[in-house]
Amino acid sequence: MPIERIKTGIPGMDEILHGGIPKRNVVLLSGGPGTGKSIFGQQYIYHGLLNGEPGVFVALEEHPVQVRINMSQFGWDVRKYEERGLFAMVDAFTGGIGEAAKRERYVVRDPTDVMNLVDVLKEAIRDVGAVRGVIDSVSTLYLTKPAVARNIVMQLKRVLSGLGVTSILVSQVSVTERGFGGPGVEHAADGIIRLDLDEIGGELKRSLIVWKMRGTSHSMRRHPFEITDKGIIVYPNKVLKVTRAGVFEEHV
Ligand SMILES: Nc1ncnc2c1ncn2[C@@H]1O[C@H](COP(=O)(O)OP(=O)(O)O)[C@@H](O)[C@H]1O
Ligand SMILES: [Mg+2]
Repeated sequence: MPIERIKTGIPGMDEILHGGIPKRNVVLLSGGPGTGKSIFGQQYIYHGLLNGEPGVFVALEEHPVQVRINMSQFGWDVRKYEERGLFAMVDAFTGGIGEAAKRERYVVRDPTDVMNLVDVLKEAIRDVGAVRGVIDSVSTLYLTKPAVARNIVMQLKRVLSGLGVTSILVSQVSVTERGFGGPGVEHAADGIIRLDLDEIGGELKRSLIVWKMRGTSHSMRRHPFEITDKGIIVYPNKVLKVTRAGVFEEHV
């Protein structure tokens, strides 16, 4: 029997994943600053909403109001789905402080308290019947305590996977780092997608590679992608080669 998959809906990405992300997988989306992690996560959530799959987005990095504005720039208006109870924005940013925060329905009072976050996340998933989840970013939860990183990711995984959610955990790495966000985290994840920006000859080139994806085969190549005013477009028929001599794009 073929496995159940959740399509990312990002043009080109599901080809690279040989059909989509296996259901219930917890995927680490790693990359440096400005590589497109937040946009990738938002596009994934919005595609689900368009196709009748409710979702939850946990905002840890930016004010939830700002996340909605950023999404609307790409034509992704989540407001109407929130009103219909099909999408939940979890505010793990404001701590409930400020006028705008008072209008948020799912507020983590103490964003440094993972138990509190897990409780609010569970409630949001159950309320909307979430199929997709994004946490942007998990790094925020353990920046000051790397020793507990694996533990935190395992806790989130139990909740998300346990409730049938296929999820993306955004993981921040520094510009020069080769890893994905720390050994504990990398091994706990079911999948790893790495986004990169390489500067060659005065130009930044975007690419991504699927490093790991439990339950499926996938492209083993580094594919170029673009961010446009409609979101991310990945090129499954192109490969980006990064060598000392430069960056080369070739058709396959
Ligand atoms: N409308 C757009 N068209 C093209 N590129 C864009 C657009 N909006 C944002 N970007 C690019 O996306 C980057 C931010 O992506 P984001 O997902 O927020 O990065 P990350 O979360 O990895 O830090 C910006 O630095 C910019 O290069
Ligand atoms: Mg971001």
